[in-house]
Amino acid sequence: MVKICCIGAGYVGGPTMAMIALKCPDIEVVVVDISKPRIAAWNSDDLPIYEPGLDEVVKECKDRNLYFSTEVEKHVAEADIVFVSVNTPTKTRGLGAGKAADLTYWESAARMIADVSKSDKIVVEKSTVPVKTAEAIEKILTHNNNKGISFQILSNPEFLAEGTAMADLDKPDRVLIGGRETPAGQKAVAALKAVYAHWVPEDRIITTNLWSAELSKLAANAFLAQRISSINAMSALCESTGAEVNEVAYAVGKDSRIGPKFLNASVGFGGSCFQKDILNLVYICECNGLLEVAHYWKQVISINDYQKSRFIKRVVSSMFNTVSGKKIAVLGFAFKKDTGDTRETPAIDVCHGLLGDKALLSIYDPQVTEEQIKRDLAMNKFDWDHPQHLQPQSPTAFKQVSVVWDAYEACKDAHGICVITEWDEFKKLDYQKIYDNMQKPAFLFDGRNVLNVEEMRKIGFVVYSIGTPL
Ligand code: NAD
Ligand code: UGA
Repeated sequence: MVKICCIGAGYVGGPTMAMIALKCPDIEVVVVDISKPRIAAWNSDDLPIYEPGLDEVVKECKDRNLYFSTEVEKHVAEADIVFVSVNTPTKTRGLGAGKAADLTYWESAARMIADVSKSDKIVVEKSTVPVKTAEAIEKILTHNNNKGISFQILSNPEFLAEGTAMADLDKPDRVLIGGRETPAGQKAVAALKAVYAHWVPEDRIITTNLWSAELSKLAANAFLAQRISSINAMSALCESTGAEVNEVAYAVGKDSRIGPKFLNASVGFGGSCFQKDILNLVYICECNGLLEVAHYWKQVISINDYQKSRFIKRVVSSMFNTVSGKKIAVLGFAFKKDTGDTRETPAIDVCHGLLGDKALLSIYDPQVTEEQIKRDLAMNKFDWDHPQHLQPQSPTAFKQVSVVWDAYEACKDAHGICVITEWDEFKKLDYQKIYDNMQKPAFLFDGRNVLNVEEMRKIGFVVYSIGTPL
């Protein structure tokens, strides 16, 4: 029986390994993590992440051929294939701070693998890493091991999106495997390919050299984020010209060379990866002297920041240039629907902007706890993945924030509503009832274009929707 161990039981490690266990009953899969609470949650009925379809798969496989453990070294030592799926945040200090990837967690995992290994291993980069990381990892593994063990490094980046992770893993557009072009490297590629071949059609498994695989992951995220920034840039022009961004996106997306996906104008993209990975790409370009290329990709982030600040300005300026002392309901805090993940969510920037203008916020999200929301609002940028840097929570900001467990409660007596996450339930609310219980004029700012502007205006709301003329 092949044994797989995955280091890192997070948003990628957990679902990815659960899918491998489901599709490959002949393989034993152990997911290990240094975080005891995270492993305890995986071993309970209350999984540490919310992902549609995940519970069922974990239930079916746990204790059959899927295990979660904190005995990191034991399971790494026993494995034939070790996936490394640890976090790779943006550096907050030192060389490259604010751009470069912090590979501390990765390096410590690699050193531990070298220390505990007693047999040959395939080490798989699952985390998103800078191009050429495999070379550094190879050096760490070979220089820290004098037992004659052979390590083959593969790059196998993950393309799942949160909220649809299980469907993405079940039917991936492609699986990408990069390896050394040596006989041993190609043997390792074939071994990993055989794992995926249990359920992924062969023509969807792409094999490349190591550097192409590493760079393709950064490139894919940059292209996806670029589409969002492109449509968001258009949304600003729509508002000034009388064009309608949804109509423009539909017309543009009908071109089969462009395609309809990822053209939803929004308050801005969030999530743990787009910004981090583009910053990482920008840094790599700069390090290679490609300043124009770096500048080009940086603009994707600049437009995203512009879109978030444009939204905040619109809220404040519409409400007679001040929101001081006014109650504003924030509907949705997660970075997208169907996840409880708040990493880099645009909600944090919007809330900070409104709090800066002394608004009183009433926040509701069906999947995010009060504790999480308050922790997020107390953090400095980039600190969420560096627990050692967390600041004590600021009590003054929290006097202005309440977190409630119902959208109607959030909107009661409010002067304005900001829709920040596109949860389906927000489309089905009784907006007449909400309007009746609000201060007048009642403002509605739809940061996700999920509401029907005409209907909302008929009820009496003053409506701002991204990319729609006022
Ligand atoms: P995460 O923070 O949810 O999980 C990482 C886990 O690794 C944490 O539980 C942490 O405790 C653990 N860890 C860190 N160092 C460790 C060590 N030395 N030994 C054992 N465990 C250790 O992160 P994530 O969202 O799963 O992302 C992981 C990687 O995958 C990142 O590089 C990210 O860019 C990439 N990625 C993420 C997504 C996504 O949707 N979240 C999608 C594709 C790729
Ligand atoms: C993204 C990619 O889609 C995945 O392929 C990739 O594996 C992952 O990043 C990663 O590397 O972490 P994810 O961030 O989970 O996945 O979610 P997306 O669906 O890409 O959404 C990202 C952000 O863009 C969200 O805030 C979403 O609301 C926003 N978005 C998305 C828009 O504003 N408009 C769109 O048209 C699409």
